[in-house]
Amino acid sequence: MATPPLYVIALAAGKGTRMKAGKVKVLLEAAGRPLLGHVLESARALRPSEIVAVIPKDPPAELTALLAQYKAAAAVQDPPRGTADAVKVALSKISAKTGNAMILIGDAPLMDPATLRKLLNRHKQAKALLSVLSFVPPDPGAYGRIIRDPFGAPERITEHKDLGKNERERHRECNTGFWVVDLPWLRKQITKINNKNASGEFYLTDLFEIAANEGRARAVVADDPECCIGVNTQAELAIAAALLRERKMEALLAKGVTIVDPYHTYIDVTAEVGAGTVIEPGVLLQGETKIAADCRIRAGAVIRDSLIGKGASVLPYSVIEESSVGPLAQIGPMAHLRPGSKIGKGAKVGNYVELKKAELGEGAKANHLSYLGDAKIGAGANIGAGTITCNYDGTNKHVTEIGAEAFIGSDTQLVAPVKVGKGAYVGSGTTVTKNVPAGALAVSRAPQKNIPGWAARNKKKKK
Ligand code: UD1
Ligand code: MG
Repeated sequence: MATPPLYVIALAAGKGTRMKAGKVKVLLEAAGRPLLGHVLESARALRPSEIVAVIPKDPPAELTALLAQYKAAAAVQDPPRGTADAVKVALSKISAKTGNAMILIGDAPLMDPATLRKLLNRHKQAKALLSVLSFVPPDPGAYGRIIRDPFGAPERITEHKDLGKNERERHRECNTGFWVVDLPWLRKQITKINNKNASGEFYLTDLFEIAANEGRARAVVADDPECCIGVNTQAELAIAAALLRERKMEALLAKGVTIVDPYHTYIDVTAEVGAGTVIEPGVLLQGETKIAADCRIRAGAVIRDSLIGKGASVLPYSVIEESSVGPLAQIGPMAHLRPGSKIGKGAKVGNYVELKKAELGEGAKANHLSYLGDAKIGAGANIGAGTITCNYDGTNKHVTEIGAEAFIGSDTQLVAPVKVGKGAYVGSGTTVTKNVPAGALAVSRAPQKNIPGWAARNKKKKK
């Protein structure tokens, strides 16, 4: 028999009032990815025919971009009147007449594909109309509860708010908010739900009783309660993020990465690290960062959306953003590579050096205290301490080009646009305003004058 098509409905229009963040809840990040992104990532692994996300009106650009990334269609729910109302809105975007709907909540970032697959398979095996994923957390908190009859058959789901104190204690199996429902049945039943409950919302959970009355509702217990955690408060967000990071650490350790102190290292789920690399405490690896094998990332380094080549070292407290660092290069301590910087193989960028949109060729060095912006620096060039590329004239940015093997003396200003030729020398303290030909020496400082006995005469005058 052919597999029935699967339509994913992701609920993401809730106000997230309990977060007190003044922002769409599902866009809050955990371990470098928005909450909804985590859920969509797992859903995508099931290869659904379509993904429809229910979102609030006037969605922020970030939300629209996230949906585009997962090729999810948007259904606007305005105002958010509860999870059943959200599903109704999503159904208006799905024209299919057969198949299953997998309903996901956008605030459970730890959900994994294996658990979703288990829910789907059990639903199909049982020929159920509706299957809910349930879990038994150590503390059932404010989750909706699965109410079973004395023989263990599930009867209904009741929200925490609608239960008495004793019932809350007694029923510890909870609703995860993840469902698989027969699509035609869902379409027919969703209109029957009312909002007569403690919140005055249309609860999706009310569907359960309808299917249970037909003997065709299932509650499939998740093997790992951790993957079902819902994020409704900042405290829950912090816990979920810590668990996601822990998972990431475990995967990297298993791959052969040395993480000196996994509890004080912050690696986004989107970052990659090669085997044999050592990561010291206090390091943040963010976004689409890729660290190759055998690197050393020392204490306090912050690296975002950057590539670090094999065997490179990033010394303490360096910041690298949207840049690439070649193999065996050395950055820092306390260097700042701003977006668009490209460091060649074996090149060195030392203390208090800031680069922006600057290329440093293979083996080139800028070891101390410099600003190199909008610059192209050739292989083997040496940039002395205190060098500044004056790239901004107050209106426009200009480029400085320094040829291979050139030597720029300390305290040089290069007023762009300007070029220093291959192998040229620039004397210390020079302000370069004209191009320097290859192999030439440029010096612009005034010649030194010594005045004998001046200090003693000066002291006398002051008395
Ligand atoms: C929901 C479940 C609860 C379950 C818990 C698991 C219902 C009624 N309650 O409660 O049984 O234990 O999740 O974490 O389903 N949303 C919309 N539109 C709305 C309301 C919500 O799109 O009108 C979205 C939210 O953005 C969120 C999800 O639905 O992603 C769940 O909403 P939330 O308010 O967090 O429900 P819970 O109280 O956590
Ligand atoms: Mg929730």
